[in-house]
Amino acid sequence: MNVLSSIVLTSVLVAVGCAAGMSDGGTKPQEKPSMMTEAARFDAEGNLLQPKGYRRWIYVGAPLTPNDMNNGKAAFPEFHSVYVDPESFDHWEKTGTWRDGTVVLKELVSVGSKSASSGKGYFMGDFLGLEAAVKSKQRFPDAAGNWGFFRFTDEKGGPIHAKATALPESACSSCHNAGADEDLIFSQYYPVLRAAKGVTSGMMGR
Ligand code: HEC
Repeated sequence: MNVLSSIVLTSVLVAVGCAAGMSDGGTKPQEKPSMMTEAARFDAEGNLLQPKGYRRWIYVGAPLTPNDMNNGKAAFPEFHSVYVDPESFDHWEKTGTWRDGTVVLKELVSVGSKSASSGKGYFMGDFLGLEAAVKSKQRFPDAAGNWGFFRFTDEKGGPIHAKATALPESACSSCHNAGADEDLIFSQYYPVLRAAKGVTSGMMGR
């Protein structure tokens, strides 16, 4: 590149830079467009629609109660991969509480292989199911903590439906209410939630 063309190029770049700077420097700063959408969507009959893209949400942990440690009869022998919608996770970081509209999803994953090159253990197999807890004062005014509970499968390993109806308290909520450390979600088993709880500004603690 000769000297002249490099001068021309430099002035073009400076001009572009100025123009970009000017568009930012208006009278009031532009609001950042929100990347967040409501995680819980319902149809007219009150069925919860299966949230889209939840594997991109915040993955908070994967409890496992294997058959081998429960006389071969664990009540829930699968891995439970648990996701929280990003906006509610932000709120958890700021306040240490679950906001109205929180969606917590639990994806059931089979125990697949029990050995790997790293040794014997429990390794994830196939997706077997999907369940959800949704906090909504408007939809579940009388439920403990205003949480509604849902299951998108009729049987483990069966098809995962596009929508699910709310389950009765005796099926889900009562056990959560009795055993969870606070507000029906078993946050005690998720190190990501424990570490993030109430961390101010949402910028620290990761
Ligand atoms: C006998 C007690 C019990 C019952 C009944 C129960 N759960 Fe849970 N659930 C747990 C425990 C304990 C955890 C956390 C550890 C784990 O996943 O194994 C959990 C985790 C969850 C989570 C992840 C968030 C959290 O609180 O940890 C969701 C979502 C969930 N269950 C939904 C349901 C649904 C839907 C039903 C009803 C179909 C249900 N649960 C019934 C005990 C129960």
